[in-house]
Amino acid sequence: YVPMAADLLHEGHLNIINESKKLGRVIIGLLTDKAIAEYKEVPLLSFEQRKIVMESIKGVDQVIEQKIWNYEPILRKIKPDFLVHGDDWKIGPQKEMRLKCINVLGEWNGKLVEPKYTSNISSAKMKKSIKSRFVNSEMRLSSLSRLLESNSIVRFLEAHNGLTGIIVENAKAEEKGVSKEFDGIWLSSLTLSTSMGKPDTEVVDFSSRFQTLDQILEVTHKPIIVDGDTGGRIEHFKYRVKTLERMGISAVIVEDKKGDKRNSLFGDDISQEQEDIETFCEKIRVGKYSQRTDIFMIIARIESLILGKGVEDAKKRALAYINAGADGIMIHSKSNDTKDVEEFCNFYRKECSKPLILVPSAYSHIPEKKLEAWGANIVIYANHLLRSSYPMMEKVAKSILVNGRAKEAADEYCIPIKDIIRLIPEDY
Ligand code: SPV
Ligand code: MG
Repeated sequence: YVPMAADLLHEGHLNIINESKKLGRVIIGLLTDKAIAEYKEVPLLSFEQRKIVMESIKGVDQVIEQKIWNYEPILRKIKPDFLVHGDDWKIGPQKEMRLKCINVLGEWNGKLVEPKYTSNISSAKMKKSIKSRFVNSEMRLSSLSRLLESNSIVRFLEAHNGLTGIIVENAKAEEKGVSKEFDGIWLSSLTLSTSMGKPDTEVVDFSSRFQTLDQILEVTHKPIIVDGDTGGRIEHFKYRVKTLERMGISAVIVEDKKGDKRNSLFGDDISQEQEDIETFCEKIRVGKYSQRTDIFMIIARIESLILGKGVEDAKKRALAYINAGADGIMIHSKSNDTKDVEEFCNFYRKECSKPLILVPSAYSHIPEKKLEAWGANIVIYANHLLRSSYPMMEKVAKSILVNGRAKEAADEYCIPIKDIIRLIPEDY
């Protein structure tokens, strides 16, 4: 039994298959996208594409589906004489799984065989270079729906220029053997306008947002969700949808406010008006009608909790917007008490299977796991890169003034010059 993700096939895989063939009949346990997403990024190629390739490889007798990352159930079912796996799993995220497999194999005296991993080939590096060259707009556009199919929750972080896009793209952490990263990029109206020295009132128009998007698209490959504010006039919204879709953006979120929009986190401290249900439904319908593919998503953002209209109003609107064709709902709140959000999630999950988006800016103490349990499919960290850079930049500015030189600020708060000049390699 030879478990494999087999996303980008290289001679390392063929080596493992050849070694397995020497032992007997070779059954490939091809991991599904879902199984792979349990411990690393979803593959570039779909399960069906990977299966077709594996079935035509010399030395492979059978390809079966491995639906979960845990090898135990399938090993117990097949009871192979040998489990063959590259020895690279002795370290890294699969380390624990390896030990589990050794134990299970012991139940029928099965053996673990570990051909040496072909070390000069790194699928991760190959993948990075392939993505930077070949991820076209269509692949990027559809990558959000693929992610949503394989993961119960996906996480997005705000970016407002090329550099912050690169940070979202590359940030990585490991938790209990599982490698974690952000699944995509949120183009926030708040952080984009603030970084331009403008208020978050739709004054930064879409031509300028498209330019920022272009910067981000150029240096990243992850899916992007765009903050569409109110979507503007219906006649204009349909053109924006077309442009975003053509650029390879996966989704736009439009909020049900009208007139002069202000940032939601002001709530009703500032006068803001909610759009009437039917007019907003019409905007959704026109948007959906104008898109070319059926993968681009228009997500309706409900501002009832923000504007003090209550959770019943939010529920009513959710049903109407979904009926009008919205591909998902974002429920926003500016309160750190999550009672209403939870009640909404509970209601929505019973009524609808389309994605539910939460933006835990005001309730940042709630961990993702909990948001997932409430039924959220996308969590957006909407403003944190900008909010963290601002106080640091202020500190540096003050320190230079106080000290009459830059040494203190440079030593304490700045990336060294030797690192900043290499941060963006010439062949990026
Ligand atoms: C944004 O990031 O611009 C948003 C979310 O729309 S919020 O700022 O909370 O309104
Ligand atoms: Mg916004």
